[in-house]
Amino acid sequence: MNSIRHLYVHIPFCLKVCPYCSFYKEASDRNKTRRFLDALLVELDRESAQRPVRPQTIFFGGGTPSALSVSQLEYLLGEMRRRLDMDEVREWTLEMNPATVSMEKAKMLRALGVNRISMGVQSWNPGLLNVLGRVHSSDQALRSYEILREAGFENVNIDLMFAVPTQSRDQWADSLERTIALAPEHISAYCLTYEEDTAFFRMFQQGELVQDKDWDADLFELTIDRLAAAGYEQYEISNYAPAGRECRHNLAYWFGADYLGLGPSAFSTCGASRWQNVEDTALYCDRVLNGESAAGFREVVNPETRKAEAIAFGLRTNRGVARDMLHPWESTVREYLEEGFFAPNGDRIVLTRKGKLVADTLAAAFV
Ligand SMILES: C[S@@+](CC[C@H](N)C(=O)[O-])C[C@H]1O[C@@H](n2cnc3c(N)ncnc32)[C@H](O)[C@@H]1O
Ligand code: SF4
Repeated sequence: MNSIRHLYVHIPFCLKVCPYCSFYKEASDRNKTRRFLDALLVELDRESAQRPVRPQTIFFGGGTPSALSVSQLEYLLGEMRRRLDMDEVREWTLEMNPATVSMEKAKMLRALGVNRISMGVQSWNPGLLNVLGRVHSSDQALRSYEILREAGFENVNIDLMFAVPTQSRDQWADSLERTIALAPEHISAYCLTYEEDTAFFRMFQQGELVQDKDWDADLFELTIDRLAAAGYEQYEISNYAPAGRECRHNLAYWFGADYLGLGPSAFSTCGASRWQNVEDTALYCDRVLNGESAAGFREVVNPETRKAEAIAFGLRTNRGVARDMLHPWESTVREYLEEGFFAPNGDRIVLTRKGKLVADTLAAAFV
């Protein structure tokens, strides 16, 4: 049986829930946390008894993993290190919200082996941080970034969001400039999406917030150009880095590697088996600690589904997709080449800039 090389851990707590976000999370509650950490460790023990887990990449996402206290993180990471073969770990990322960064926490994470931080800055503009309902100021984000550097992190990602209500082109350009000036190793720039079951979605439905696709496209093109000029290659629709600084964990997902996800709402794909854990922290803990499966749903992924996924994810990246893989859809490929959505790159097909603007729609043709 092949070893699992990529491990995801979902920490479903946030200091405050942002009005646009649909990731599974809840407001932090210190009383429930220890039980949750123990459930994660039990799930890890159980899953690694089923198959060898020798991670090359680990990703702590959320929610907000840094919403855990220093002692909670120390406990969780220390116990995971005791249980796992860590010899081959090359990248260990932990997501942080700027309001939850401290020197003590950063140094402890670094000492326990975390070597990459992804920090959600979203914007450097105080008014827009307010629109986004963020708990931190732009000064606090800057201080947190400096703390991460002082604590020894040499691989830091900054998350930004564009097409935010009321955001001007100049404000977005300014957020990009301020980010570039800090020289992080990686920048994720997401176009705001109106996700179901969020406050922003309700406001969007009621016409209080509007979306302008042309405006989104304009800001997206500004992003690609400005970041390219600063040495950040767009290696995936929303992700930019100098060569060699791409997020290995996400690349592994996108290129179809198996991965194990722990925690509520986490997905796992191991061979033909895929499951998602229940999206309910209390239920997750009850199930795991009672010896039951945490999975809320399970499916067998057939080779056709994995192929369609490889095409959809591959098209989003600058590596594109081998033309051979698209053979059954040759007429669609020719049409997209003629319309300027696709371009040939050796024996591969990549999206053009025009194609990147409608990547999801194009990928849907290959399902
Ligand atoms: C799990 S959060 C990052 C860590 C931490 N929770 C924080 O917000 O600082 C992942 C990222 O997804 C992005 N994101 C969340 N909801 C989004 C949405 N509706 N549209 C676009 N990007 C979104 C944000 O940039 C956010 O930083
Ligand atoms: S964006 Fe980050 S901090 Fe805000 S609710 Fe989502 S996961 Fe929590």
